[in-house]
Amino acid sequence: MTAAATAPAQVAQRLRLEGLRKTYRSRGREPFEAVKGIDLDIEPGELVALLGPSGCGKTTTLRMIAGLETVTAGRILIGDRSVGDLPAGKRHVGVGFESYALYPPLSVRENLAYGLRARRDRDARRKVDAIAERLEMTDLLELRPANLSSGQKQRVALARALVRNPPVLLLDEPLSHLDAGQRQRVRRELKVLQREFGYTTIIVTHDQLEALSLADRIAVMDAGEIRQFGTPDEIFDDPASRFVADFVGEPPINLLDGVMDGDGVRIGDAGVLPVAGGGAGDGAKVTVGLRPQDCRVHRSSGNSLTATVQVYENLLEYGLATVALAGVGRRVVVQVDPGEPLTSGDTVVITAAPERVYLFGAEDGGRLR
Ligand SMILES: Nc1ncnc2c1ncn2[C@@H]1O[C@H](COP(=O)(O)OP(=O)(O)O)[C@@H](O)[C@H]1O
Ligand SMILES: [Mg+2]
Repeated sequence: MTAAATAPAQVAQRLRLEGLRKTYRSRGREPFEAVKGIDLDIEPGELVALLGPSGCGKTTTLRMIAGLETVTAGRILIGDRSVGDLPAGKRHVGVGFESYALYPPLSVRENLAYGLRARRDRDARRKVDAIAERLEMTDLLELRPANLSSGQKQRVALARALVRNPPVLLLDEPLSHLDAGQRQRVRRELKVLQREFGYTTIIVTHDQLEALSLADRIAVMDAGEIRQFGTPDEIFDDPASRFVADFVGEPPINLLDGVMDGDGVRIGDAGVLPVAGGGAGDGAKVTVGLRPQDCRVHRSSGNSLTATVQVYENLLEYGLATVALAGVGRRVVVQVDPGEPLTSGDTVVITAAPERVYLFGAEDGGRLR
């Protein structure tokens, strides 16, 4: 076997961002700071999801790592090498960006093989066939880019990034145009491939389900900053702020204004919800975070929040009740066992294990412990 026929040995690389910043400057406009000093330390072979709302700076961050955008300040390290001064082509980073166009005159097969041929990879044909099969796109190989739907183009872009087996892989919303079933299958295959080949990966998404299902760790981003970096369980069970708690979780967390009162938080006339930990002094204004999954519903009266059932939805695996807190005019969504359905108009009491009730500062939204 010749050397060219074997896959190049790819050593998984550590990827570090240190104080990474980007300010966009254009004539006649105020400078705009899109990325405000990001630190991330990503292990070799790790899959990190960069999760945040539209406009928070995810694409800008990825483009800086790829070398497609200049860096205003800070460092990017791949392994021990600072790559800020290297052109995109020399960084050995695989990119799957929507804006990264395919060559129109070439077939999909030729587009996929292009980078491999440029490196005189004699195994190009077999590699292209293999990746095409795994991403369910064998039937697309002889087509031209102009004849592809947006979902098909997206899979071709993903395949092109993967076929080179890059040590670092950057993907920007790679599954956004796929229909639901295909998105799930391609997502799973992407994770299998990532585990098999061990590329250190950042996948940008605004879809929390995608982040939770794919990632070893999630970096939650907002307004150009990383708000929390942790495993999916850490992000869900131990949110650092009101923003993170609100952004991750389905159905969304209930956020209620209240006032510290003894060992609990008074939510207006609905009652006092027991909480664990000090939080803040008596009388301090706080925001309570209560996940629908953590709520328990009781039909007896009790020492907690009193509410009236407004709507009950049976979603087969679980039921969702929307209840109105007594005297507060605030709604709370609670998840219940479908074996014990609720009826509109029922009066109920809502409780939660005190350690599952999160407290946030009413002003800055920071977590109170
Ligand atoms: N070339 C540019 N010039 C000026 N502002 C830009 C440019 N590109 C992006 N921005 C702005 O920077 C912010 C972050 O953009 P982006 O990184 O694309 O966000 P995301 O990918 O999280 O949706 C947005 O407010 C966007 O309008
Ligand atoms: Mg984007």
